[in-house]
Amino acid sequence: MIKILMVCLGNICRSPLAEGILKSKLPSNKFIVDSAGTANYHVGSQPDRRSIAVGKKYGIDISNLKGRQFNIKDFDAFDYIYVMDESNYQNVISIARNETDKNKVKFILNEVYPNRNYDVPDPYYGGEQGFENVYKMLDEACTIIADSLV
Ligand code: 4NP
Repeated sequence: MIKILMVCLGNICRSPLAEGILKSKLPSNKFIVDSAGTANYHVGSQPDRRSIAVGKKYGIDISNLKGRQFNIKDFDAFDYIYVMDESNYQNVISIARNETDKNKVKFILNEVYPNRNYDVPDPYYGGEQGFENVYKMLDEACTIIADSLV
């Protein structure tokens, strides 16, 4: 099994969408895809209704996902840890124990724009268009990730 973790701040907007999108592109008998937030605000919560809606629009059902917080054991449990933005990157790296942990952490948009460290913008305080924009960015990145792994 290859194990991939998507990380954002709240684990209700960006990373659950990234999880759902990547899962849809990979065979479930060979890959585990999960998501987590660096913050604990939304532990146990369903994804934001706007993320659920944009996923549904493109045939991805994330309504049954539940928020959880990133923790140090995730460095052992996952092969690849994709963060959505610079702040997520700093938060995750700050609890890494060694170089092996650090090397697992990647900016998801570096799959599309190598080495630029671009952010997937946090859509939480914006409108529906922000979620559409995030969906398109994540879909493009996840297509590249899936093609590189299958
Ligand atoms: P996410 O978005 O990190 O993409 O899940 C956010 C969700 C909630 C909050 C911030 C960002 N919040 O402050 O509650």
